[in-house]
Formats: sequence, structure tokens, C-alpha cells
Amino acid sequence: DSLWDAYSNKVTTLMNNPQHQGEIFQEDVDKRGNKLIVADFGAESCGDAVRLYWEVDPKTDTIIDSKFKSFGCGTAIASSDVMTQLCIGKTVQEAVKITNIDVEMALRDDPDTPAVPPQKMHCSVMAYDVIKKAAGMYLGVDSESFEEEIIVC
Ligand code: FES
Ligand code: FES
Repeated sequence: DSLWDAYSNKVTTLMNNPQHQGEIFQEDVDKRGNKLIVADFGAESCGDAVRLYWEVDPKTDTIIDSKFKSFGCGTAIASSDVMTQLCIGKTVQEAVKITNIDVEMALRDDPDTPAVPPQKMHCSVMAYDVIKKAAGMYLGVDSESFEEEIIVC
């Protein structure tokens, strides 16, 4: 048993080939009459950082596109990628209910086997924190005001 085997195939695939890594540009968002949110979050303990982009339709508060950039480990990249997938199509109010558990579950190959070893569970928390930051920016509230549903490893 090596740590190598403790990662799901989804994590391995997405960390090497994320689908939503990149940037959303203000001028494109302006052309469509939407709102751009860019939120940064850094994890104190490991120094990793993530930047989340949301293009939001202000008429419906719906996130129509999402991308990310990462200074993170492989698990942070895979977590960020599923985070953007989970955000797209949701309203901002729905997206803020996405938790780190939702992110980790979305990375599992089978529902009963964790996607990452215990040491890497915190990497999905960063995805959750940056969503709350983005939602706070869009809604004009302090991100601390959102209910904490983080389950820390
Ligand atoms: Fe990596 Fe917490 S130590 S996100
Ligand atoms: Fe830092 Fe994974 S070790 S986010």
C-alpha cells in the first residue's frame, strides 16, 4: 500500500488535465452585460492559494461560467476544478451551500472510498472557503456570515 494508491482516478485525471483552469476576462463579461467576481483565498498552513472567477448573470444571480487559477498542490487543482463544475448553473445563493464535503465527494470514484488520503482533506476546504469569499463579494456581505459547514480532517 503506497500513498500513490490513496488517490482516486478522478483526482489523478483532473490534477493533470483540469477542465476549467484559466481566467475570465472583464471585457468579455462586460459585453454580455454580466458581472465578474474574482476571489482569492490562501491556506495559511501550506501556503497554497486559489483564485476563483465567476461570471454572474445579474438578472437571475446565476453563475453562467467559472474558472480558477491555482498555486496549489495536485489535490487543490482537482478540488478547484470540480468546485467550478459544481458552481456553474447554480445561483450564488445556491453555490454558497456547496461544502468541502461536496467537493471531496465529487472527486470520489466510488461513494465509499475517500478520494484523497486524510492529509489532503484540507485541500478541498480551500475550495469551499473561496466560494464563500466570492459569494460575499457578490452579495456585498462578509463571508464570515455564511454558516460554517466545514468538516476538518
Ligand atoms: Fe493546504 Fe490547508 S494546508 S489547504
Ligand atoms: Fe496545500 Fe493541498 S497541500 S492545498
